[in-house]
Amino acid sequence: MKKSTELITKQKKHLWPNQILYYADPLPLDRGDGMYVWDVDGNKYLDFFAGILTTSVGHNNGRVRQRINEQLDKLIHSSTLYPNQAHIEYAEMLAQITPEGLDTFYFGASGTDADETAVLMAQVHTGNTEIIALRHGYSGKSQLAMTLTGQGAWRMGPVHIGYVRHAMTPYTYRALGGLDEKSFVQACLDDLQDVIKTMTSGKIAALIMEPIQGVGGFITLPPEYMEGAADIARAHGGLVIIDEVQTGFGRTGTHWWGHQHSAVKPDIMTMAKGIANGMPLSAVATAPEIAQSAVGAGLTISTFGGNPIACAAAIGTLEEMMESYTPARSAAIGQLLEDGLHALAKKYPLIGEVRGRGLMQGVELVSDRQSKAAAPQHANAVMEAARKTGLLIGKGGMLGNSLRIAPPLMAAQEHVEEALEKLDLAFAHVQESV
Ligand SMILES: Cc1ncc(COP(=O)(O)O)c(C=O)c1O
Repeated sequence: MKKSTELITKQKKHLWPNQILYYADPLPLDRGDGMYVWDVDGNKYLDFFAGILTTSVGHNNGRVRQRINEQLDKLIHSSTLYPNQAHIEYAEMLAQITPEGLDTFYFGASGTDADETAVLMAQVHTGNTEIIALRHGYSGKSQLAMTLTGQGAWRMGPVHIGYVRHAMTPYTYRALGGLDEKSFVQACLDDLQDVIKTMTSGKIAALIMEPIQGVGGFITLPPEYMEGAADIARAHGGLVIIDEVQTGFGRTGTHWWGHQHSAVKPDIMTMAKGIANGMPLSAVATAPEIAQSAVGAGLTISTFGGNPIACAAAIGTLEEMMESYTPARSAAIGQLLEDGLHALAKKYPLIGEVRGRGLMQGVELVSDRQSKAAAPQHANAVMEAARKTGLLIGKGGMLGNSLRIAPPLMAAQEHVEEALEKLDLAFAHVQESV
């Protein structure tokens, strides 16, 4: 029996079946090196999804391993009850790249954890309760995070929290009534005003938004929307929470943070995924005045937040990003990827739109460009065909029809060329069968 078959049989017996797995024949991974991973049967793949945008500086990165090993020899765990060196040193280092003023942090172990903490902090700071999130957004898997999430499929269970309201997202490819981008952005801003006016007390604690909605299929928020929405939230007493869980750490190119493609200045920013190259770590960043407002509101600890091994990995990861895999580099390599995807779009009518920034490129697939009918079957088929060529990509979007292409930030020109060749084969295979 193949090793993968044996493992999947055991997985089905012991792991909850509601954890979704990619591919009809799931793919147990065994090892990784840089841009490549190998499955347990020895097949090699070029990784253009990076474990959901997480293996930011490449699989088994030498410096990250070194930092982890150094820390392993000293201390594995402390809890937040005892200050630990890696925790403090990483906070100091992170403050060098966070937006000006956002230089105090609360570390956790997941993006869900970070978004929960950010919402709570906004509520404590403003004294308001209500939260506005965007449709198509994703915040994680706790009750609150599922409630913030604006996609039905990810909102498991009957109980949702009553103080969250959702405004229309500027999903320009599917603009209401076929409006042009400018008019649609205005319609979305009007809707946000309307949601606040009609569905809240008028005083909100925060608006939370992702600069590019990751799980939403890389829906890229126009800067004018983000700026207008931030103004509206503040006019109603709310803070602006920017979720940089997917878009952070230079992924979108040019800037360290995805929102910096706009003029928005967050009050609270969350980050996770690529922060520690796969070690479980997340962070919430705020100005000291906001952090201070939680003092006296109640006690808080985190058993795993700021874990020394995870923080050591984060230090190694950020060193690599600062020295080698910079936002400027991601912009340049991302441009090659984007250009290549646009070239594929000219060739294959099943591609409805290419969108995103830097090394975060989405490709929405349709049955035909006129009707824009979503084609999740094509997305599945392209993913399967790409796997056969030895390329891993992701998918998402509420309609299940958007490919998510987001390699480790260490991707070089040769990797992009290899990925585009493989994608060309995969698209050709699927287009033929349409
Ligand atoms: C934008 C965003 N926020 C929050 C989360 C939740 O992160 P986690 O899965 O680490 O809890 C995710 C996960 O995909 C995400 O994409």
